[in-house]
Amino acid sequence: MRQIQLFDTTLRDGEQSPGCSMNIKEKIDMARQLESLGVDVIEAGIASASQADFNSVRAVAKELRQAKVTSLVRALAKDIDNTWEALRHAKHPRIHLLIPTSDILLEQRLKKSRQEVLEQTAQMVRYAKRLCEDVQFSAEDATRSDPAFLAKVCEAAITSGATIINLPDSMGYSTPEEYANLFRLLRGSVKGAEHVAFSAHCHNDLGLAVANSLSAVRAGADQVECTINGIGERAGNTALEEIAMNLYMRGDVYGAQTNIDTTQLYKTSRLLTAITGVKVQPNKAIVGENAFVQEVGTLPQDTCENQFYEAMRPEMVGLTTSKMLLGKHSGRHAFNERVRELGYSVDLDLSNTLFKRFKELADKKKTVSDRDIEALVRSILAQEIRKSYALERYVINSGNTITPTSSIALTGTDGARVEKVAIGFGPVDASFNAINKIVGRSVKLEEYSIGAVTEGRDAQGEVSVKISSEGATAKGYGLSTDVIEASILAYINAINNLIYETTREEQA
Ligand code: KIV
Ligand code: ZN
Repeated sequence: MRQIQLFDTTLRDGEQSPGCSMNIKEKIDMARQLESLGVDVIEAGIASASQADFNSVRAVAKELRQAKVTSLVRALAKDIDNTWEALRHAKHPRIHLLIPTSDILLEQRLKKSRQEVLEQTAQMVRYAKRLCEDVQFSAEDATRSDPAFLAKVCEAAITSGATIINLPDSMGYSTPEEYANLFRLLRGSVKGAEHVAFSAHCHNDLGLAVANSLSAVRAGADQVECTINGIGERAGNTALEEIAMNLYMRGDVYGAQTNIDTTQLYKTSRLLTAITGVKVQPNKAIVGENAFVQEVGTLPQDTCENQFYEAMRPEMVGLTTSKMLLGKHSGRHAFNERVRELGYSVDLDLSNTLFKRFKELADKKKTVSDRDIEALVRSILAQEIRKSYALERYVINSGNTITPTSSIALTGTDGARVEKVAIGFGPVDASFNAINKIVGRSVKLEEYSIGAVTEGRDAQGEVSVKISSEGATAKGYGLSTDVIEASILAYINAINNLIYETTREEQA
């Protein structure tokens, strides 16, 4: 069996997709989980993009001890220096250099000739190699590039010291056969190809990202780049959980395996959903809500009992079969045990707060499900950021014949209490207007989403918001059995995050 390296770019290519941005703490939590999952390489971001990105890449680089940590960088000396400054703290650093190779990108974006790109590749790979032993070179839009030119660029990268050659299907344009042929062609024709690893990086525009990546594996790719839940720009990237399970279940076909601990897949997927608020479609392979649900009677009994349905079991991806529900008589031990089984390691302080919130919820709701517990953990983790404002009370006056009015009282870090009243199109709008008056800044609501954590009239409502103010953006999360309260909490959480991130950036 060949060992396939899994390169996770959830924190870079994934994070670029709408609604998926993460703050530094969320990136560290996610990176830790990716490391426990057994991912070989973690792309932590683009360090040279902004001070906040630099800080996140550096923090992840300092945190991880097993996985390699990399950061994508344009082939420019000053960006490479800056990237290395963030990466050099890593136990296993890798510089990931990018240059486009398709004529369309050369002409429209880079405004450089093929010859100039060839020279820049050689120069900048050499430059990066002086700083870092491990240099990955990516030929952006490789699948739409002239193969002969692409081969020359890859050869220049290899002779200048690149250790991995990545051939991205940046536009999700390729077919499995074409993609495999590209790997065979370059492996067979580029001087020095036998000394380096080749990597597949696919986008899902035509729904073929996983198929293309697996096809590349069959054609000799040594590394596959993917994201958890397949998140990524447009239709997303190759889904890591699908690659891991295909190679786990069908290693006989691919002759390859990964280092992934498949029992951590579900937990990793849930953590990403909890952090970003972006839900997985119910019928998504491996980690979707219905992925292992088989309606009784729709398949003949013998089909259900053997082959695939029997072979791929929910436990393999870490889906616990326990349907034990907790309630108001459940003790601390049972609760902590469930939290641990769901994959969260919480310190004592957090565990006390969590148990208190669980008891409050259990008083309001008959049963507390895993989804409720995950939402509670998420809301507590979301509030962990230093609080500038906390909700003291709110009073809403609303109806179909009056103008909705909200009166909100918040306390600031200095303990001072401020109360303001505002009107709006509805109770939520009125509340957000009142909060804006208190914080005294012009805040714009960019995104607002509301959902029920579970079924039933006593379900908790969860609200995610994204706000912007003076060029900065922040997200917030709120949870309550009252949806107006959940909205207010989410908005205050976003404002606290905004203040925290902007003051941190100013201090950095
Ligand atoms: O899709 C792409 O081309 C990429 C590269 C930057 C690796 O994400
Ligand atoms: Zn990409």
